[in-house]
Amino acid sequence: MITKSTIDRIMEATDIVEVIGEFVQLKKRGANYVGLSPFANERTPSFTVSPAKGIFKDFSSGKGGSAVTFLMELEKFTYPEALKWLAKKYSIEVEETVETVENKEEENHRESLMIVTGYAAKFFHESLLDTDEGKSIGLSYFKERGFTNDTIKKFELGYSPDQWEAFTGQALKDGYQQQFLEESGLSVKRDNGSLYDRYRGRVMFPIHSFTGRVIAFGGRTLKNDKNVPKYVNSPESEIYHKSNVLYGLYFAKKAIREEDNCFLVEGYADVLSVHQAGIENVVASSGTSLTVEQIRLIGRFTKNITILYDGDAAGIKASLRGLDMILEEGLNVKVVLFPDGHDPDSYVRNYGTSGFKKHIEDNKKDFILYKTDILLKEAGNDPIKKADVIREIVESVAKIPDSIKASVFIKECSYLLQIDERALLSELNKMRLAKAKKDSQQQISRPVPVDETLLDEPVEKKPREDASQEKEIVRLLLLYGNKVIDWDGIANTYIGPFMIAELSDVEFENQTCKTFIEIYRREVENGVLPEEQLFIHYPEKDIVDLTVTLIATKYTLSENWYEMHKILVPDEQVNMKATILGAIFHLKKQKVGKILEGLRSELQKTSVEADQEILLNQYMHMKKVEKTISEYLGSVILK
Ligand code: CTP
Ligand code: MN
Repeated sequence: MITKSTIDRIMEATDIVEVIGEFVQLKKRGANYVGLSPFANERTPSFTVSPAKGIFKDFSSGKGGSAVTFLMELEKFTYPEALKWLAKKYSIEVEETVETVENKEEENHRESLMIVTGYAAKFFHESLLDTDEGKSIGLSYFKERGFTNDTIKKFELGYSPDQWEAFTGQALKDGYQQQFLEESGLSVKRDNGSLYDRYRGRVMFPIHSFTGRVIAFGGRTLKNDKNVPKYVNSPESEIYHKSNVLYGLYFAKKAIREEDNCFLVEGYADVLSVHQAGIENVVASSGTSLTVEQIRLIGRFTKNITILYDGDAAGIKASLRGLDMILEEGLNVKVVLFPDGHDPDSYVRNYGTSGFKKHIEDNKKDFILYKTDILLKEAGNDPIKKADVIREIVESVAKIPDSIKASVFIKECSYLLQIDERALLSELNKMRLAKAKKDSQQQISRPVPVDETLLDEPVEKKPREDASQEKEIVRLLLLYGNKVIDWDGIANTYIGPFMIAELSDVEFENQTCKTFIEIYRREVENGVLPEEQLFIHYPEKDIVDLTVTLIATKYTLSENWYEMHKILVPDEQVNMKATILGAIFHLKKQKVGKILEGLRSELQKTSVEADQEILLNQYMHMKKVEKTISEYLGSVILK
């Protein structure tokens, strides 16, 4: 955890125009700056930065927030990562709490391992390019496979000499410690305690973390001997957790974001060839089956995955189940098969970039439909097997968090499976219900780690709610909360605390508005009048989003907002009393309306006379309340 004082110093030093200016070309317009949205393709600038408020607002994608939010949105940093980026830019030393001695040591330990792997990458790369053995064996192999010098340099490909201690010996001579050579898996210990090279006579593929540091290696043999393993990979270590890493992600992330799609292949060679062909949004799971962590990693950059399989059918069926996991994470999955004997690497080399792209366009299939196809073919005419297929497909669909998307699939599958859509839907609902029950039980026992809440995770949609009234309250608090009331009857009171007191009997429904009001109330109770800056820099993304959306719209940022949306806004500050009381009592009226609605439907349902009478009494009472509010509203607003 980064300390509060460090965060404050970072916020103070941060110049939002300067930060965003590193990614977006900004032009000054009035008090603000405008530019082309980095989140959408546009010709006319709708991306606005307000240096005075320290916020940006992108009118085409709807995104907005502080410099920190910007980095999180664009670079997909976590909150601490974004803070550290800024700290580095402004040379601020980052203090972290609970930085106990062990923590520090652990950090140093990881750093030492990364220094060793970085050194090794350089050693192997130089040995490939500058030694006779490297050139004649390693480099000529890569050339034969069609890799260009640029690719070899970019991915830092290398060669490890065919000797027992070429690397280890040099590393020890250069002062690297045994412990780190061994832990990183570069060297292996003999019984007598001495070390030898793990990779001998192999071409080397360094594996980069998603921030670009070498953390592991895959070494491919050049021998055609069945008894020699084709690849030797780094063991798990403190810096390398295989299940959290995707080969090529560091080089692909920009393109993944731009294309809003990620190609997933199996091998190192596939990544290199496809990337070299100019299709840079490609990563590999490196032979292991895909993990949830890897999916989430991709999910930070795009919600669309296209899996490229080579033709052999055995592997395909085995992987079908694993793919449900991707659906569960809310990502869209498409699948493309390559003709027998081809993998993405060989296909792109044979048919070129456009042939490759065309094959994908012509053959990509939505995962669920593809799965339905395969399973149906397998079941043939056996009715029992067919029933199993139906279950399995509905199970997959049930994993899709977006219910609209799910129902589209149900429609298509009902056609493929030749089954009534309603039957599939009722099966789907049963599974959903079971899943919801299971989730709610899990949620109670599992505390959410702080960082996670800052990532874009698909938000569970509640039934549609109209939050505009609640948001209006939040907007007024933000804009006028620290202004003093000066209207007849009430004076010497701040608007914020006044509104909070007036709203103490109102239950907010929109979760973000509710949290906002709670924060505001807490501050007021502590004798503080919260400023908008508190909410702009609040470490919860929802709060920041709401705040920025509300303060950045029509009144402050975009000057042509009125015309764009053809909205005529009377000056709300002219009659502050009507604005504030109007908002409060409109919200109250809405809540009363909801209560009345509830009572009406209960009345219709009960046939017990005694109950009916109670309900009716409540109904009449609420009707009176509603009338009073309406009259009051009329008297306040219409003056
Ligand atoms: N793999 C591995 N160990 C093996 C075989 C494969 O770790 N013994 C992993 C590697 O990450 C490899 C991927 O699985 O890149 C896919 O395997 P394969 O298709 O055999 O390798 P390619 O990289 O395509 O190698 P090549 O084209 O040179 O045969
Ligand atoms: Mn291959």
